[in-house]
Amino acid sequence: SESGTDLPAGRLAVPEAELSVPGGLPDPLVCADGTPVRTPADWWERRRPELLAAFEQHVYGRTPGGAVEVGVEVLAEDTVLDGRATRVETRLTFRRPAAAADAPDSQGTAADPVAVTVLTYLPVSAAATAPAPVFLALNFRGNEIVENGSAADADPVQHPWPLAELVDRGYGVATACYQDLDPDVDDFGNGVHPLFYATGQTRPGEHEWGALGAWAWGLSRILDHLREDRRVDADRVIVAGHSRLGKAAIWAAARDERFAMAVSNNSGCGGVALSRRRIGETVEAITSTFPHWFCPAFAAYAGREESLPVDQHQLVALVAPRPAYVASAQDDTWADPYGEFLGAKYASPVYELLGAEGLAATEQPSVDRPVVPSRLGYHIRPGGHAMTDGDWARFADAADRHLGQLSGR
Ligand code: GCU
Repeated sequence: SESGTDLPAGRLAVPEAELSVPGGLPDPLVCADGTPVRTPADWWERRRPELLAAFEQHVYGRTPGGAVEVGVEVLAEDTVLDGRATRVETRLTFRRPAAAADAPDSQGTAADPVAVTVLTYLPVSAAATAPAPVFLALNFRGNEIVENGSAADADPVQHPWPLAELVDRGYGVATACYQDLDPDVDDFGNGVHPLFYATGQTRPGEHEWGALGAWAWGLSRILDHLREDRRVDADRVIVAGHSRLGKAAIWAAARDERFAMAVSNNSGCGGVALSRRRIGETVEAITSTFPHWFCPAFAAYAGREESLPVDQHQLVALVAPRPAYVASAQDDTWADPYGEFLGAKYASPVYELLGAEGLAATEQPSVDRPVVPSRLGYHIRPGGHAMTDGDWARFADAADRHLGQLSGR
């Protein structure tokens, strides 16, 4: 049955079984004041800015707009993969602008620079002919794990990434450890937050950015840097990420339209899974264990998801009409794979309004039947919470398809 009969204005009717709370889903195509969004102009001029502001206000917090001083230092540059790739290590440093740092009673910590080491693999052949599209993804455990893995254990985030395969398909890969931008602890005295504090401020306010906002900000700063590199196709940088970093990736793509495509892998609660399902990780669970990821205001929706002004399908919609690819894993029940599918599915009307194909599947596909042909794509594969070589191959399939074939370059 559809929960359609007594819905408040601005709510989208969806089958009752899809949500655990009454009231349907917030409709991406109805403005907060009830005005329907009928044209692309309505979307771009009214609804998109309003939705972005709502995600800032209630979920991720506002990202400060102020400038920082950026330093760039190339640490190493060599040829790897039997001559097929150029490997570059660059240190980016972020400092409070001199004037602000000199303010008489500014925080001591606020003046400390934040250093991020970016590792980039670029296909040598592409550099010679045309700049390469690049996957940009933060990593969990350090750049060396991305390259070499770790003998330590079977932890999926310790697996090396398929750099050779991606390079051979024509893609560059850029990465940095997320903790360089903001250590993943409930402490706001470190990482990039203090670079923006007002005098005397020690942590973000009720509606200001948490750690996900900081990681997303960092992705945009790394993008600034990549766009300066003539070996990188500035108009084809794909932001990707797994789990908490899949949440950061889709938020980054929503905020920064320079990202050509977004990939959100096993991103679950606070990522692409609908909060109103309350299946697997809930708003209550995530805001108790990881309160620092969001703005403080998000915790107020624990146990009252029906009153959230937004839900996560609207975050996917903010990427439209750019390609977005959502990936689930069958045994990753904590991330609610069906909720991730619905997050993609209910973003479709915005793609369609903007003249792009929405998700080409109305039912969740079976495992290993990726939905790659539509601009909004999805797959679910067997197995647990991880970003596997097979997942990466599907991301590249979607990028090939929607950002232009790369073979023969
Ligand atoms: C925890 C957390 C998830 C997150 C995951 C990860 O499981 O509850 O929200 O996605 O960590 O980042 O691996």
